Amino acid sequence: MAPPTRNTTLSRGTLRGEGRSGARFALARFRVRVPHPAATRATEGNRSKQPVSLARAGRFAQEFPCQTANYSVPGGLSLGRGAARASGLLRVRPSTILAPFSNAPRRVAVVLKSAEEIAQMRVAGRLAAEVLDFIAPHVKAGVTTAALDQLCHEYMVGVQGTVPAPLNYAPPGYPPFPKSICTSVNHQVCHGVPGDKVLKHGDVLNIDITVIKDGYHGDTSRMFYVGEPSIQARRLCEVTYECMWHGILAVRPGGYLGDIGAAIQRHAERHGYSVVREFCGHGIGRRFHEEPQVLHYGRPGTGLELQPGMIFTVEPMINAGRPAIRELADGWTIVTKDHSLSAQWEHTVLVTETGFEILTLSAGAPPMPATLAAA
Ligand code: MF3
Ligand code: CO
Ligand code: CO
Repeated sequence: MAPPTRNTTLSRGTLRGEGRSGARFALARFRVRVPHPAATRATEGNRSKQPVSLARAGRFAQEFPCQTANYSVPGGLSLGRGAARASGLLRVRPSTILAPFSNAPRRVAVVLKSAEEIAQMRVAGRLAAEVLDFIAPHVKAGVTTAALDQLCHEYMVGVQGTVPAPLNYAPPGYPPFPKSICTSVNHQVCHGVPGDKVLKHGDVLNIDITVIKDGYHGDTSRMFYVGEPSIQARRLCEVTYECMWHGILAVRPGGYLGDIGAAIQRHAERHGYSVVREFCGHGIGRRFHEEPQVLHYGRPGTGLELQPGMIFTVEPMINAGRPAIRELADGWTIVTKDHSLSAQWEHTVLVTETGFEILTLSAGAPPMPATLAAA
């Protein structure tokens, strides 16, 4: 997941069209309400203790400006920013996207994937899910997270012929990620760096896999139990899975990003859990993290209008306790501030003409929760 560039309140407004080149695109204009930096800092106290929401969010935001730089054109061509602007296709101000604390309207460009790109994304998505199928039987007490990483790495590179996207991934302000997968155990929220931590009976952990196949990314994660989890841990993992599904079921053309966040938030809070705010789902394609940002909380009918051809992840992080997080000294691992348990599930999803298609399914992917299948 990527940190959202800021906590946003998004209002509606999508321009759509077709460039002279034939590229399909959606330019959405967001009116963004950003907490004034000073005010935000004041409530957070010491600046040096700023969590991801401020310090990192600004830097991570710089990962997104290229969003505006390339427009994929059905047929595999791509337009640079200059060409796109000349064609009248693009009128963006990258500086507003870059400015972490700007109050200016934020106009994001979401590239709609062509049929060819969607076909490639299906392949990448299935391969990512199959890495999770592969690793499942290896998740047991006594195994280190580094061993799981090693096994996944060899499977991706040696068996699948995929590239592990996390390895050396280095968004602005981050050190290169040193491993090929993320393993987040118990109170770790996300981006856990595999290491010599030995898994023990009762642990629950998220394994997050992103592969690149022929230039396209597939991104998915699941929770795993090491032996028998506590009733509370199991419940958190199950409810978080339901949260992801509530979010996915809100995906349909003509719906809004806010519908997804609202559905997730409602279900989590109904169970007394909290939604992590600092990280969100993301558009995905040739790049790991693209627009749009998919917040896991929000209000129905707000934000970007969903259109067929959009591909993004839904990946709620849900805490048993308070929503606050902090980052470990490794520069990546995120943990709950109150040390409460945290869970996460992730799928990569395509908006279709009639609803959604999950791109990260595999033989071992758990089915839709029975409680939702009825609805
Ligand atoms: N896979 C994560 C996501 O869902 C991102 C991990 S970035 C890494 O977006 F560098 F930590 F791998
Ligand atoms: Co993701
Ligand atoms: Co992921």
